Amino acid sequence: MTEYRPLRIALLGAGSVGAQVARLLTENKAELAARVGAELELVGIAVRDLNSPRAEGVPTELLTTDAQSLILGADIVIEVMGGIEPARTYILQALNSGSDVITANKALLATHGIELFDTAEQVGAQLYFEAAVAGAIPIIRPLRESLAGDKVTRIMGIVNGTTNYILDRMDSTGASFDEALAEAKELGYAEADPTADVEAYDAAQKAAILAYLGFHNEVPLENVYREGITKVTPEQIAAARRDGYVIKLLAIAESLPADENGPAGISVRVHPCLIERTHPLGSVRGAFNAVFVEAEAAGSLMFYGAGAGGVQTASAVLGDLVSAAKRHVAGGPGLADSVHANLPVLPIERVRTRYQITIEVKDQQGVLAAVANIFTQHGVSIETVEQTVARAQDGKRVSTATLEVGTHEATEAALAAVVDALAVSEVVEKITSVLRVEGI
Ligand code: HSE
Repeated sequence: MTEYRPLRIALLGAGSVGAQVARLLTENKAELAARVGAELELVGIAVRDLNSPRAEGVPTELLTTDAQSLILGADIVIEVMGGIEPARTYILQALNSGSDVITANKALLATHGIELFDTAEQVGAQLYFEAAVAGAIPIIRPLRESLAGDKVTRIMGIVNGTTNYILDRMDSTGASFDEALAEAKELGYAEADPTADVEAYDAAQKAAILAYLGFHNEVPLENVYREGITKVTPEQIAAARRDGYVIKLLAIAESLPADENGPAGISVRVHPCLIERTHPLGSVRGAFNAVFVEAEAAGSLMFYGAGAGGVQTASAVLGDLVSAAKRHVAGGPGLADSVHANLPVLPIERVRTRYQITIEVKDQQGVLAAVANIFTQHGVSIETVEQTVARAQDGKRVSTATLEVGTHEATEAALAAVVDALAVSEVVEKITSVLRVEGI
């Protein structure tokens, strides 16, 4: 028996996530009511087109195109329609009318998050978004609540399943990027236009949200450095494997101390990089996601699971719904994020990491010294050098050597200067690969 009045739930969107939320809300009605202490009554599902085909389990009698009326009569609004508009307007309307809002909309949060959080705080409403990053994986609540008393120093995440699938196939089968992408499309991981995934726009949005929570700091999306995976070659993948590494697209947010180049701040970036195969993130296969968090007191934590999928993402939405509903029943103002840190989001040039650079050089006396000299001139210390010689068979042409140079930690600015100098050096024939090494 529940005593509190039924709570009116409005659902905006009936796509792959919305359909599963509607189904689970209907099928698990009694159990959810027992957990919350109030019935969760799905009062309507706003869609663009009433006649579009719907997944099984969607109560079609609840469909409406009048989202605004639905929002006005709701206690809790769930937005799973995606896109910036009209989702932004609907969420602002819901918050301003006192409803709590649950959203899975990473693009909206990454671009208009501060406006939405400020509005929620001003009116005393709650904005929940566990489903916006890494699908079913609980990562928002751990950062927002469990680690709220600790000091997060670094977050490294595989937050895009499509690109992890592609890189994993390249690693395990030797496929090219194009071949692995075609396979990802066939399996339904990659969209017909895969740009958002393979150029890392999707991962950059998620990185901005994770950094906002982890570092209590505003993170404008335009300050997130972004490189996609389209240029990763089978040769780079094979060399990584030979050296005990694997190439992953990582979203990294970390605090950087003040140094001779400027003040302390945070860096937020997404790019392919080498990570040791034995690192917990190195063993994340297929389309799975994982987020590795380092905090001062807690040490290292890893969150792993399905990063996408209708029913998996619906699990995160329903978790938020139970939290929001319990707050209604218990009363009180609930949770507000702190964005007190006011740290600058630093440019990529300030990042310090290790690098692996592969170059083809002329196999002549003095070449190794000339290359080493370029690194020294720009203050980049070499840790390892491996040389392989390809002998010219005709005795006329000069043989070439491949040099694989591993560096100690250096700044991006210094490394970029080394790469520029190598590119114009007489002894260098070609720069084959430049990759960051992360997870140390
Ligand atoms: N397209 C995303 C991915 C899922 O491949 O992980 C939604 O964020």
